Amino acid sequence: MKNIFAVLSVFVIAACSQNAPSKSGQLSVASPDKTLTLEFVVNKKGEIGYQVLHQTKGMVIDTSALGFAFKNMPTLDRFEVLTTKQNSVLTEWTSPWGQNKQHQDSHNELLVKFKEKDGGRLLNVRVRAFNDGVGFRYEFPQQDSMNDVVIMDEKTQFILPTEQQAWWIEANYDSYEKPYQHTPLSQVKHANTPLTMVAPNGLHISIHEAALTDYSSMTLISKTKNTLEAELVPWANGEKVVKTVPFNTPWRTIQISDNAAGLANSDLILNLNEPNQLADTSWIKPMTYMGIWWEIHLGVGTWNMGERHAATTERAIKYIDFAVENNVGGVLFEGWNKGWGQWGKREAYVVPADDFDLQKVADYAREKGVKIIGHNETEGRIEAYESHVEEIFKIYTDLGINTVKTGYVAEKGFINGEHHQGQYGVNHYRKIVKLAAQYKIMINAHEPIKDTGIRRTWPNMMTREGAKGGEWNAWSEGNSAEYLLTLPFTRLLAGPMDYTPGIFDIDYSHFEGKRYNWAGEPQTGDYRVHTTLARQLADMVILYSPLQMASDAVENYEDHPAFTFIRDLKMDFESSFVVDAKIGEYITVVRQTGNEWFIGSGTNNTARTLRLTLDFLPKSQTFIAEIYRDDTDTHFETNPESYKIEKIEVTSTDELPLILAPGGGQAIRISAK
Ligand code: NOJ
Ligand code: CA
Repeated sequence: MKNIFAVLSVFVIAACSQNAPSKSGQLSVASPDKTLTLEFVVNKKGEIGYQVLHQTKGMVIDTSALGFAFKNMPTLDRFEVLTTKQNSVLTEWTSPWGQNKQHQDSHNELLVKFKEKDGGRLLNVRVRAFNDGVGFRYEFPQQDSMNDVVIMDEKTQFILPTEQQAWWIEANYDSYEKPYQHTPLSQVKHANTPLTMVAPNGLHISIHEAALTDYSSMTLISKTKNTLEAELVPWANGEKVVKTVPFNTPWRTIQISDNAAGLANSDLILNLNEPNQLADTSWIKPMTYMGIWWEIHLGVGTWNMGERHAATTERAIKYIDFAVENNVGGVLFEGWNKGWGQWGKREAYVVPADDFDLQKVADYAREKGVKIIGHNETEGRIEAYESHVEEIFKIYTDLGINTVKTGYVAEKGFINGEHHQGQYGVNHYRKIVKLAAQYKIMINAHEPIKDTGIRRTWPNMMTREGAKGGEWNAWSEGNSAEYLLTLPFTRLLAGPMDYTPGIFDIDYSHFEGKRYNWAGEPQTGDYRVHTTLARQLADMVILYSPLQMASDAVENYEDHPAFTFIRDLKMDFESSFVVDAKIGEYITVVRQTGNEWFIGSGTNNTARTLRLTLDFLPKSQTFIAEIYRDDTDTHFETNPESYKIEKIEVTSTDELPLILAPGGGQAIRISAK
């Protein structure tokens, strides 16, 4: 098929140069700055394909097929063009919270209406070409020839013209908590998205999707060299998507940039989501939070009631007291409920543990002005959770709890056989977000549906996990500095992540004899965090989450000078930008709110010195920079907790050296003098 298209493209270009009516003109759309063009080609058989071209660097996506296979209906992949329509959009929109307040949506749109060749079925494809990538979606218009459809395969391809470097995780329909692999594209067999690549010409490309609504998630499968094909996550019965016409698919997105920073700075995914649906967003507020959590993952405490039960009333009060004194907005108490482990029963969802006085804790938190983050682990028992969730949300609302961390630990799929990432899962997670919005509750989902930018439409969908988070350091080999520097260019392109950074007690060997695994057996693994303490602070800036957890146990923060950075940290910004980065190697991020700038910089296991020009600061003004950095003897393996705090005066003409130890980082707060 590829060759037929290649021949046809040559034909189209030749026809244009003879001033023939520009068929390719109608079937192509360029980005506002003309750098990128998406062009459709239709061959003699009526097969449609699209290509993406870069003005100076040539082919980004080679001619790739589009179409669908259905149950009880012939495949739809031969077409003739009915009409085309072009449109240019330049709008600005504001988000209630996030990394940036103002967003610009500047794109050119092409809508192509196709009709089945030798048949009556209709299918439209809408394309939006931005300066930083393209998105397209299928639209099934109202028609007599199709009503209820069962999609068995979406035939969308993404054919890369050459071998690429790729960063990816293995496709899994129930867990995104997989190690990122950095391999040639030819070694990708089946991957989750975002899948990020660097072409030999230096172009950075990331394939994902936007606005995943009532459809199943797209994974990418490769059967032929350099060819990725959409593989939709199935229902338990093997069907992929069940819909009634008319409907639109999610957007298939291809972010394209000259460099890694450009990928991370892109708003393309958000721009392809629908505007905010909530009239009142005044109750939605980013914050830092702490919790009775890490000690349980370390195996020192338990979720279950018993001798080592962590979420007691007394301990909760201690956390609230620390939070209020240290400007931490929220507190999470896991294992607050009686029925931990008795999933499906009412106790698991709404009844507090005997030694946890929910009313007392909630009253105390309210009085002190600290927000409690409720915790609902479901273990993938979706029907049970759905039957109790409204009662929980009512109880929480009465108690003044307006944030809920949900959890879906069910690595082999939901208890009813459906997948986290299938259409069923997509709809469940959305149902919870919408219900939460009715109760003015913010959501932080663990083991979530993949992020596709729906926080623009439902701004109470704050953050989620959806990759190996900090918890993996407690009970496994854990996460390397390189992994942490891969996230901003893969998982985080999709949206915020509740990674849970901020661990100060890097090496837990001193807990020997006090740690137990989930089976209650002694935890013998030599586990630890694989970055330096300064980097743990930097990661709170680098890995954006509007609910950002300072994850360590309260005892490790008490009287710790480095906690000052967390005390001062804000999680809602007017603007953010990645200054400089190389995937898996280093990054520097700057975030600004009012007259304050928070900077996070990190390296992999190689020590390096980066330079940061402060030209983003207002001119002719002196500021104070509080620098939390690795010391000369710091090393993530041998001396991770060694750090230095410095306070210096800076102006917009200064350049700071960012000296980073192996596995290290630097966190800086700049504020008015
Ligand atoms: C996995 C979540 O990622 C973690 O944060 C939580 O503590 C456990 N599940 C228990 O719900
Ligand atoms: Ca998890």
